[in-house]
Amino acid sequence: MERWQTIIEPFRIHSVEPIRITSRAERLGAIEEAGHNLFNLHADDVLIDLLTDSGTGAMSRDQWAAVQHGDESYAGSPSWYAFLASVQDLFPFRHVIPTHQGRAAEKILFSVIGGPGKTIPNNTHFDTTRANVEFTGAEAVDLVIEEGRHPEGEHPFKGNMDLGRLEALLAERTPATIPAVLVTITNNSGGGQPVSLENLRGVRAICDRFGVPLFLDACRFAENAWFVKTREPGQADRAVRDIVREIASLADGMTMSAKKDGLANIGGWLAVNDDRLAEQCRNLLILTEGFPTYGGLAGRDLEAIAQGLREVVDEDYLRYRIRSTAYLGDALAEAGVPTVRPIGGHAVYLDARALLPHVPPLRYPGQALAVALYVEGGIRGCEIGTVMFGRHPDGSETPAAMDLVRLAIPRRTYTQSHVDYVVEVVRWVAERARDLRGYRIVDEPPALRHFTARFEPLV
Ligand code: F0G
Repeated sequence: MERWQTIIEPFRIHSVEPIRITSRAERLGAIEEAGHNLFNLHADDVLIDLLTDSGTGAMSRDQWAAVQHGDESYAGSPSWYAFLASVQDLFPFRHVIPTHQGRAAEKILFSVIGGPGKTIPNNTHFDTTRANVEFTGAEAVDLVIEEGRHPEGEHPFKGNMDLGRLEALLAERTPATIPAVLVTITNNSGGGQPVSLENLRGVRAICDRFGVPLFLDACRFAENAWFVKTREPGQADRAVRDIVREIASLADGMTMSAKKDGLANIGGWLAVNDDRLAEQCRNLLILTEGFPTYGGLAGRDLEAIAQGLREVVDEDYLRYRIRSTAYLGDALAEAGVPTVRPIGGHAVYLDARALLPHVPPLRYPGQALAVALYVEGGIRGCEIGTVMFGRHPDGSETPAAMDLVRLAIPRRTYTQSHVDYVVEVVRWVAERARDLRGYRIVDEPPALRHFTARFEPLV
């Protein structure tokens, strides 16, 4: 090891994108116009955009060069073969089915294997995954370990599946009603927490015993593999690429959003080993996404992903990536700001319920904190709490399990001084948290209200 402590960005900047500096008064006007909903803002009124890490990262010089190689042939494009080789190098599944993004892969998979009376266990379903399971009439069950349900406790693999509960569920229902077990790496809805290899091997053994296939929701597979390398006993000397291959070898298939660890702005895929399942999925693909050698993607997108997959397993990149997320989280923890611990791979989750104890959950402490970060510093995060999960199909409203604000870090996009600025703003807002007031919803749609609801501040 070198003697220097600072982990630097393993790249220099080649092309820059301006961000617009706004005044507090301008931001107040913009957020009022947006009905106090951060999704309604014009993105150029945002200074540091931490709404999501999905499709918002910077592509490399070599990815932009690969884009120029994009071949737009309808069938059998060389770009498809470049994509296929790159995917199968890490995930050697027999069938790879390209889609325009992750949820399209989910939609196709669950349309085939889901349906009324079926149950899909997962460590924690991401919202689109849950929605696609439930849309078919199947039930989505979350079985993350108990530690994964509490923001404060430290555990190296808080995304792990509760093997005891998984086994009990599989024993209780006949295998025929459980078409697949899913594991989400890293566990986004549970704080971006990783799953250990040991736990995956345990899930595999249970699946084998009951004859149920195992699928990965692998959006952040490289970040998960880095946590395995750095946290799991016996893994430190392995190449990340080999850890990824072992993870793949434990599964029968995967869904993927290339907007995360594909380092691309769009794209995804579904991969399976089963020939008959692949055929059924391809038939659906042709209906809604496109011919099987491009899915919903342009040839240039396939090329960008092929190159992105080579870059994302680079260990200098991953060391920087995980360190830069932890840098933000640790600085906030040092300032006494409560966060989900330990810091996950792609985001820092602020615990708004702990920070704003005077704002009851049904007055939306996460929304209050997220709006304040925007008004004071132009930072856009995302409420993950009672606004997002509090309203139920029967019209009732209850507090969500947690009221969090996610600050998601786009890949290779912001510098350390941007992050230092975020720390300064969050600290300032946190020190004045007792002055923040809750919100009331004045207009909301029947489902997925967080995207479009309008709010009014309480006085
Ligand atoms: N699975 C997980 C774990 C995800 O985080 C996402 C997207 C998807 C599936 C769906 O992929 O967006 O390509 O259709 N997560 C984004 C986020 C939107 O902000 O966390 P997609």
